This record gives sequence, C-alpha cells and structure tokens, in this order.
Amino acid sequence: SMRDEITRLVQTVPVNGNKKAFDTEMQSFLSLFTRYVTEKASSEKLDWDKIKSPAENQIVPYDQLTTSFDPKSLQKLAVLKVNGGLGTSMGMTGAKSALEVKNGMTFLDLTVKQIEHLNTTHDIDVPLILMTSFNTHEDTLRIIKKYAEQKLRITTFNQSRYPRIVKESLLPCPQTADDEKSAWYPPGHGDLYNALVHSGVLDQLLADGKEYLFVSNSDNLGAVVDQKILEHMIYTNAEFLMEVTDKTKADVKGGTLIDYDGSIRLLEIAQVPSEHTDEFKSVRKFKIFNTNNLWINLKALKRVMDKGGMDLEIIVNPKITERGEAIIQLETAAGAAIKHFKNAHGINVPRSRFLPVKSCSDLLLIKSDVYALENGELVISPERMFATPPVIKLGDHFKKIQQFQKRFKKIPTIIDLDHLTVAGDVYFGRDVTLRGTVILIANEGQRIDIPDGCVLENRLLSGNLNM
Ligand code: UTP
Repeated sequence: SMRDEITRLVQTVPVNGNKKAFDTEMQSFLSLFTRYVTEKASSEKLDWDKIKSPAENQIVPYDQLTTSFDPKSLQKLAVLKVNGGLGTSMGMTGAKSALEVKNGMTFLDLTVKQIEHLNTTHDIDVPLILMTSFNTHEDTLRIIKKYAEQKLRITTFNQSRYPRIVKESLLPCPQTADDEKSAWYPPGHGDLYNALVHSGVLDQLLADGKEYLFVSNSDNLGAVVDQKILEHMIYTNAEFLMEVTDKTKADVKGGTLIDYDGSIRLLEIAQVPSEHTDEFKSVRKFKIFNTNNLWINLKALKRVMDKGGMDLEIIVNPKITERGEAIIQLETAAGAAIKHFKNAHGINVPRSRFLPVKSCSDLLLIKSDVYALENGELVISPERMFATPPVIKLGDHFKKIQQFQKRFKKIPTIIDLDHLTVAGDVYFGRDVTLRGTVILIANEGQRIDIPDGCVLENRLLSGNLNM
C-alpha cells in the first residue's frame, strides 16, 4: 500500500541524509493522500444546492475602506511571495519570477524594488520572504544573491516536495528518497502554511514582532503593499482577508468566494461537478474571483496550526509525464484557508492589483511600452491615450516562452494599440510599431515576417507575406 511504500522510501535516505525532515514531509503527504482516498470513497461531495453567492457584508468594496492610518501598523507587516511554481503553461522549466520584465530586471528584482521603496518612504523594515520549491530554489537564490549586502532582509524557505502518484496503482512514482526530480511535485501554494511551520519561519516572524503577513503570487506585480487594506484588517479584527476582483469573460477559471452553509469558502473550478462548470464560469452567480492576494494574522495562523492544522480542499491535478505515464498530484490552494479564520472576508479591489503573467500574451503586454515602472511598480504609461491596456491574443505558435523569444526580435511599440490578434507562423522584426487594431493570420504552411521598422495601423494581414 501507499503507507508501506512511504515507509520504504524513508528507509532509503542515506545515513548522512536528513531522515527526520524527509520523514516529517512524507507523513504530511500521507495524511493528504489518506484524506483523498477517504473522500473519494465517501459519497459526501460538495452539495451544489448549498452554494450561494456571498452575502453583502462578506465582500467589502475597496473604496469603502477607512482612510486613516496608524504609521506603526506597517512595522508589524511581513511580505511573502509564493514562488514555488514553474509556469508550466508557458513551457518554463525554471521559476517564472526569474523572467526578465523590464530594464533587465526580473519579477523578483521588481518586488525587491517595491519593498525597498516602501521601507525608505516610511522608514521601516518590512522583510521579504520567498517560498520556493525544489524546482525554483536555485533560480531564486541566484537572483537575490545581489541583495545580500543591502538593508532589505530577504528570507527564503522551501515548500514541501511530495511524491507524484501513479494514477493506475495509486503508488508513489519515486523509488528512493533521492530519485530524479520528475518523480516529485510541489503540492500547490496551499502548502504555504505547513511549510511556514516546518521551516521555523512562522515562529521567527512572531519572535520579530510581526503580526500580519501579506501573501501574493510572485508573478503578480500589481500586488503592492496597501496600507488601506492593512488598516481595514486591524480595524475589523479580521484574521484573514482575500482580495477579490470583478470577473470578466477572460477570467472564468479563477477560484471564487462562496457562502456555504452560512460560512465563507473558496471554490475552485477543480471542485465543481462537471454539470455545473458553465454556471461556475458565468459572471452572473459568481461575480468575483480570487487574486490570491491574501492578508493573514500570524498569531491566528499559529493558533490554527497548533490546533491540528488545516484541511484544505484537495485539488487533483492529473498529468501525463514525459515518459507517457498517467500520474496525479494532490494539491491545495492558499485561499482555501479562509474558512479556518475569524471575521475572514473578501475585499473587492481594483483590477490593477491583479497583474499576473499567465501566458506569453500577458508577458508581451507588461514588457511593452504600455507599462512604465514607478518604484518597481508597473503603471500604465502616461503616454497612453486610454486608461485600459490593449487586448492581446497570441496564438499557439507563441505559447512557449522559447517560441515567444524567437518570434520577437524586439518587443514592438504598442502604446497606441487597442487590439492585437496573431495566429500562425508569424515573426516580428526590430522596431515594429502596432497601432489601433492589428490582425495577423498566417495560414497553415504559410509564414508572415513583419520587417524591421514596419508600422502597422488598423491592418488585417493574412496569407503568405514576405513584406
Ligand atoms: P499557479 O500554478 O496557481 O498558476 O501559481 P500559474 O502561475 O498560472 O502557473 P502554471 O502556468 O499554471 O503552472 C500561482 C503562484 O503560486 C506559486 C507560483 O509560483 C505562482 O506564484 N506556486 C504554485 C507555489 O508557490 N507552489 C506551488 O506548488 C504552486
């Protein structure tokens, strides 16, 4: 059984290895796995009829927040970025946050800039904490090395490494504790809470007098520290806040806050029975989605973890490995923790606080001149005539980061662009300018090359063009 296999795995740790830490990690995995098996067997599923839109007071609009600040509150804050994911949907094999965004700076560099700015403005020392995984640890250390001599305190800690599970047999993929990387996975950002405890970081933060933790995705450059939200958290005695934002047709997959039997919960698409996915995706019943910007009271977190921890809803992530083997990964989401905290609620924030890079279309946009940098923050350039960014749809030929880099000799000037659609085998030269609505379609077996210095304004090009 899985339990026997895990015991066997623990025995393969070499004498000079850290058997105890590995054993602890495997026991956490085993309890997640046991919950999965038990839940699968029981008929007790999510009761769709009990799911309601959250009540009015469960989601507070951002402009209703207090505007008076206590300058001392910020001193009790720490900022954490979850940075354990690879950005697999963009074909990355390293940390997404190690991608260059602007002026030679990566996501991580910009985050450092944001916090340094916060600290100098208020003469405080908010630390930056990075949760990494076995997949992203080295990338992360390489980038932050250059800040070692600076005032900003940066702490890193590793999240768990769990064994992938063979779908057919429900047995672990790895044969030994040091089996190859591809036999393991980082179990989602919901692992944050266990990893904070096991690494000792939670106790260290409390010992340093920190009381609040602001968590966000490492690729979300819109997630800057917001004093209004922090103050609201203190004022309302909320132990947990989730920043949500209005859903558009483009973000139908994001998790949402629901009222379940009178209590607030996160609902992820993976938990939704297939006959209800259309309802889940509609903007009518579920108007908002989770940005994964979370504010957590650290003393409350300590209390919850001491009392036996959390039972976050399990997200089953099925995958096919490179060798063609069907496996599953059991993951959890950080926002699901909301149900364990007192006075927890959502804040409906402006869209600008959610600026992630989920695809190469997003990457093109933030690398472009549409955004300017202000103290590490991306703001829509004052040169742009419209308050909203252009809509960019790059086709499958631009799906992977390597293809993206190959197909743009240089990022085009798009400050006056409204809409760009690119489909098929298209290459962009140097110093290209795109304005208005531009649609480029290379049909099957054809190729379009946009030459150096080309200006396209309100143009539709299709076919086989070598301009
Ligand atoms: P996600 O994996 O939820 O979304 O990561 P994504 O960015 O779209 O990634 P892909 O392209 O589907 O793979 C959201 C944030 O959570 C972190 C990631 O690093 C990212 O900042 N994360 C994810 C972890 O820290 N650990 C994990 O196990 C998974």
